[in-house]
Amino acid sequence: MLTTATTSTAARLPSGERGAFARDLVAGLGSRPRTIAAKYFYDAEGSALFERICRTPEYYPARVETRILAEHAREMAGMIGADADLVEFGAGSLEKIRLLLGGMDAASASLRYVPVDISRDHLAGAAAALQAIHPALRIVPVAADFTQPFALPDGRRRVGFFPGSTLGNFHGAEARALLRRFAGLLRGGGLLLGIDLVKDPAMLHAAYNDAGGVTAAFNLNLLARANRELGADFDLRAFHHYACYQPMTRRVEMHLVSAKAQRVTVGGRRFAFAEGDAIHTENSYKYSIEAVRELASASGFRPAACWTDPERLFSVHWLETL
Ligand code: TRP
Repeated sequence: MLTTATTSTAARLPSGERGAFARDLVAGLGSRPRTIAAKYFYDAEGSALFERICRTPEYYPARVETRILAEHAREMAGMIGADADLVEFGAGSLEKIRLLLGGMDAASASLRYVPVDISRDHLAGAAAALQAIHPALRIVPVAADFTQPFALPDGRRRVGFFPGSTLGNFHGAEARALLRRFAGLLRGGGLLLGIDLVKDPAMLHAAYNDAGGVTAAFNLNLLARANRELGADFDLRAFHHYACYQPMTRRVEMHLVSAKAQRVTVGGRRFAFAEGDAIHTENSYKYSIEAVRELASASGFRPAACWTDPERLFSVHWLETL
């Protein structure tokens, strides 16, 4: 049965950040295939759910990347150098930076850490927690959508940190454009990039279909967020999480599939779903080490160093700006 909802908010689209979400969601539901940009996963609720994904036994990328960073922190810190602004793109919980800080000595007190994240409240809390552990560290949080132009503190050498295989959430042309923009921002430095590798599809499948249902909850939070923020009336039991690895495109695709014929109202507009109609919510592209290096070379960087785990599940790259 349809969830009935008051649609008295009809045609009143909110402004600001909410307005952007409303506009993009309405446009995305109206296009074919139905899509929505992955950045809208990350409200405070979504950011917290993503941290829970990182602790599921199936989501190996977080665990393996953590191990690689911890093991080679000293060497990576040497490449980052002192007297720099370290800008992390999509910083989330600010947990991975702790591993790099562990590899730095007192001289790196001159380092300034600039976490950039779209989730303003989550970022403020995470920055306070990090400050409590590293009282001497200068932290300059920047609440911004890194896919759009944004302002950074000025005047120092800048290096970048882009872990979590977030780059994999952009398709080829977008990934190149993003890296090229980062290369422009990171003049005189380099980028430490963490990215997931191609592997057995069964392992990839499991990583995005955890048995505890956390990834499903994360995917569905997009609809819950639309209900919370935009007064939409998505029936959360009538859409199902579906994720699968496509070897031909080397990407995990995430969808929300309508379990029945239904209508949904968003921003005063009605959208019809037949049973089986899907909203494509995310891609997670998987790379070979060579493909990462080629992508970097085509986007304003010189691939310098690469670290991986013994099973070659995940890779971390030091890319120098030209
Ligand atoms: N950068 C992460 C990845 O591609 C994001 C992610 C992990 C994700 N699990 C997810 C995004 C589930 C959407 C749904 O691995």
